[in-house]
Amino acid sequence: MSAVKIYVPCDAAALSVGADETAAAIAAEAARRGVQIQLVRNGSRGLLWLEPLVEIEAAGTRVAFGPVQAADVVGLFDAGFLAGKPHALNLGPTAEIPYLKRQERLTFARVGLTDPRSLRDYLAHGGYRGLTAALAMSPADIVASVTASGLRGRGGAAFPAGIKWKTVLGTPAGQKYVVCNADEGDSGTFSDRMLMEGDPFVLIEGMTIAGLATGADQGYIYLRWEYPEAKSALEAAIAAAYTDHYLGERICGSEHRFDLEVRMGAGAYICGEETSLLESLEGKRGQVRFKPPLPAVQGLFGKPTVINNVITFASVPIILDRGADYYQHFGMGRSRGTLPMQLAGNIKYGGLVEIAFGMTLRELMYGFGGGSLSGRPIRAVQVGGPLGAYLPESQFDTPLDYEAFAAIKGMLGHGGIVVFDDSVDMAAQARYAMEFCAIESCGKCTPCRIGSTRGVEVIDRLVAGENAVQQETILRDLCETLTYGSLCALGGLTPYPVISALDHFHGDFVKPVKAPAPA
Ligand SMILES: Cc1cc2nc3c(=O)[nH]c(=O)nc-3n(C[C@H](O)[C@H](O)[C@H](O)COP(=O)(O)O)c2cc1C
Ligand code: SF4
Repeated sequence: MSAVKIYVPCDAAALSVGADETAAAIAAEAARRGVQIQLVRNGSRGLLWLEPLVEIEAAGTRVAFGPVQAADVVGLFDAGFLAGKPHALNLGPTAEIPYLKRQERLTFARVGLTDPRSLRDYLAHGGYRGLTAALAMSPADIVASVTASGLRGRGGAAFPAGIKWKTVLGTPAGQKYVVCNADEGDSGTFSDRMLMEGDPFVLIEGMTIAGLATGADQGYIYLRWEYPEAKSALEAAIAAAYTDHYLGERICGSEHRFDLEVRMGAGAYICGEETSLLESLEGKRGQVRFKPPLPAVQGLFGKPTVINNVITFASVPIILDRGADYYQHFGMGRSRGTLPMQLAGNIKYGGLVEIAFGMTLRELMYGFGGGSLSGRPIRAVQVGGPLGAYLPESQFDTPLDYEAFAAIKGMLGHGGIVVFDDSVDMAAQARYAMEFCAIESCGKCTPCRIGSTRGVEVIDRLVAGENAVQQETILRDLCETLTYGSLCALGGLTPYPVISALDHFHGDFVKPVKAPAPA
């Protein structure tokens, strides 16, 4: 009888709730019973409340069990879980779990399915078909395909990827670079991490295609230092890609060369901003550069550089493989394709949901997320990281679309959703946003460096009721200065969370005046 395949995720979220211990208990119990198993450490399926999610593969179908702690393992063997027998933790066929079944996974198609360190598994699941197609195309045709797909940058600013690539292609230089922004500093976001840990080859393939398209033969992945599991997954995948000639000289037997390295950041939110990132990659202090020149013209070491987010690059292989039309068929308006949304904060079913643009925020939070974890009404949601607006209930029907969010003075950003129930103090959240800017400011420009510190003081006075009307006027004025006078979006967008909290949750800033204590 062949060994039963058992999948236990090696994703950091699963590890944090005991996946390694579960895997070790399964291996030990199988050995004790003399049962042959093949243990595969896969990426996470993104159903984070069910981690560690263990899967058994039988007759080509994967059956899920979760959450499985080490202490559950003996009972699972006793119940005959290897044969898919009934057990309280049996969730049925993984692909039929509604949270997964209702998604449209293009970028995350393989995450959770494959062994992230196995190039053979990657190839068996359609890997490197995009690169094969790209190798038969001219650089201009690759760029045209990415442009036609409508793919926009997934790191936050939603700039069309094809236009950026076209600029790099059209800028003559002896050396060009491809840089992946894997700093993932936004609160409540983890899609880059999950992708790098669960399917690192797709990022490598996307970056290689970017190199072919623009004439760059050196790539760097700038990875936040808080992601050690992603680092080891990427390094293992890069080594395997070199061994099988998907990286290095003469990729896939062609005349093209592409080299790739991982570089670790040192832990600063501003190093996610592309020009600070380039400074940091050059070994300098991460501080924002003036633009122009754009990185596409003068980027890393002054050379033309494609810099994109992890998810942007990872979305490219499927575009080259299935065609621009296939990809751009998903989505709405100018937001084409899919976005991996990340549900976090006070939410019952937190996790990763990749869906086409167009679903409403409400459908996502209730249809997938199941409402708040506390069971209390959801009062506010911050979408798009620490610089995103706080949205009230009246805006929950906004479709997940870049333009629809811009119209309500919000942003989709990197797809992070942080949910708050009705116990939240929105004045404290506004103060937190301003303080975040003060702490993370790179210090290059005055409105952000000094304005954010003054902003915290003004919010404190406003909440304390000291000349509240005057303080609110000063706060709004200061936010206007930050919006128009900041060099980068850290200072420029901090007013989003502050002003949205003030506009939609004004009562939280005006605390009832306490009656004087009786004499
Ligand atoms: C303060 C700040 C932090 C940022 N952090 C990130 C980040 O962690 N990851 C990211 O991909 N983009 C981040 N960005 C956006 C980048 O500057 C840039 O737009 C992005 O890397 C371009 O890639 P894309 O077009 O694929 O999104 C940040 C921007 C700002 C202003
Ligand atoms: S806005 Fe803030 S982070 Fe951005 S350049 Fe100015 S000081 Fe630096």
